[in-house]
Amino acid sequence: MLPRIAIPLTAAFLSLASLPAAAQAPAGNADAAKNKVSMCIGCHGIGGYKTAYPDVYHVPRISGQHPTYIVNALRAYKTGERSHPSMKGIAASLSDQDMADLAAYYGAQK
Ligand code: HEC
Repeated sequence: MLPRIAIPLTAAFLSLASLPAAAQAPAGNADAAKNKVSMCIGCHGIGGYKTAYPDVYHVPRISGQHPTYIVNALRAYKTGERSHPSMKGIAASLSDQDMADLAAYYGAQK
């Protein structure tokens, strides 16, 4: 049984998946992301969205961001199209499925 939150998300992803541009993107599962977000909340979960290491810098808010935007951003860090040392290192360790799951999770947050 899927938790209630996963059903509208799955439906949203299935409809996205039928668009040509998203054809090869795996469907995200917000529930599966729950044991993956531990590597994100250290930075993206901080109130005020700042982190203090190595310098105090602003961390963008990703909760409530559109899932497609999140996946595209993570892919761009992985390929080096976007450069940020911490995000590049993290994105490099994520599979397409991880990215889709994380995007579904954060996209559903308010
Ligand atoms: C070490 C701190 C840190 C960790 C851990 C971290 N991030 Fe980030 N993240 C950042 C910073 C700083 C930026 C802004 C980078 C830039 O300026 O391009 C960012 C940017 C992003 C963006 C782009 C946001 C935008 O508005 O364009 C996404 C999406 C994102 N992170 C997702 C994640 C996910 C998912 C995880 C966990 C797998 C994660 N991040 C882990 C610090 C972190």
